[in-house]
Amino acid sequence: MTSASLEPFTFDPYDYRFHDDPYPTYQRLRADAPLFHNPELDFWALSRHSDVIAGFRDNGRLSSANGVSLDPAAWGPHAHRTMSFLAMDDPRHLRMRRLVYKGFTPRRVTEMDNRIHELTLEHLEPALARGTFDWIEDFAGKLPMDVISELMGVPGPDRAEVRRLADLVVHREEGVLDVPVPAIEAALNLITYYGDMVADRRRSPTEDLTSALLDAEIDGDRLTDEEIIGFMFLMVVAGNETTTKLLGNALYWAARNPAEYAKVVADADLVPDWVEETLRYDTSSQIVARSAATDIEMYGRTIPAGAKVLLLIGSANRDADVFEDGDSYRIDRADKGNLASFGAGVHFCLGAHLARLETTIALREFVSRVRDYRLVESGIERVHSTNVRGFATLPMTVEVR
Ligand code: HEM
Repeated sequence: MTSASLEPFTFDPYDYRFHDDPYPTYQRLRADAPLFHNPELDFWALSRHSDVIAGFRDNGRLSSANGVSLDPAAWGPHAHRTMSFLAMDDPRHLRMRRLVYKGFTPRRVTEMDNRIHELTLEHLEPALARGTFDWIEDFAGKLPMDVISELMGVPGPDRAEVRRLADLVVHREEGVLDVPVPAIEAALNLITYYGDMVADRRRSPTEDLTSALLDAEIDGDRLTDEEIIGFMFLMVVAGNETTTKLLGNALYWAARNPAEYAKVVADADLVPDWVEETLRYDTSSQIVARSAATDIEMYGRTIPAGAKVLLLIGSANRDADVFEDGDSYRIDRADKGNLASFGAGVHFCLGAHLARLETTIALREFVSRVRDYRLVESGIERVHSTNVRGFATLPMTVEVR
């Protein structure tokens, strides 16, 4: 702690010990420093459920336009290059979101149900047949990107390469805050690939999302090719790793709470509840940032205009004011609503329905085949990130039915 800090303790989102278990820190923040200031890392943080949700909704005072990540060089601030509406304010954001929504409809997602089943089995069956495998590498790291590719219309033979590039986009290097060179190269390759796809669909439209985005129109306004490519890239950044890690966290916490896993084995209709409880208890997207558009008075202090403000999603989801016995992982808990996991307000996650659908299908197929499983503890590795929470590897041995 520096002498400039007025806080009773320190909170460093880069600290590996914090990543190991952030929840005791979140609890202290909610209790003793609900508006926390870290002068060294130059951010403020909100940790109570009511403040996090209000922060998501307060687009007038909390702007997304400077990026939504704590890391200065994360993809968010490159919005001007990637045309990502995640990192725009209204009305620019609203215009793009409404046009994208014309193509990315709930109906289009729901209609993917069968294909998601097929893609799930394509990756799950060979893994289960081996008995011992890595849930992340062999399954959870493959399904979400293949689902996004399916949605966009990426042809089957190209999907493995698209997945490889997408994985490199989120590639991190130990102790390096800038986006690493391999990640930039992969992003450029991916953008070139999507650019060719958009040009192709312009010539010969199909039934896929890419064609639907080209077709989307509101009062004569349409998305440019660059905006469509930007949205495709946004899906890779926002919807791939988050879903992979959620699938990993579900199996990690079910293994740590065998009585809970026994509940879903006994009643597969509880799988959607298992997904919700994992989203609450240990969500894969923990911290979203905003910039103060003006001075903000809170808790008797002033967040100065321009300051970075973190919304601590993982903390909001454990707040005792909303979730009874929030530190327990209970699949059949009654108080499921009010999750902060997908944000709130105008930037509410566009892929929430898709993320829920595909994790439910994948976990349902897993429980219907696996009576019991054990994690290979020595092989478990956690990802270290200020936002993404989950595992890089999750090896396991399964006992199939
Ligand atoms: C926005 C979480 C999956 C696409 C968001 C936000 C959160 C979030 C917290 C709000 C960000 C903010 O307010 O700044 C998650 C989690 C997921 C997930 C935890 C999986 C478990 C997906 C998927 C897709 C997707 C599968 C699409 C394929 C988006 C988009 C936005 C967004 C496009 C920006 C919406 C906007 O700015 O209007 N997500 N997401 N997400 N998400 Fe997701």
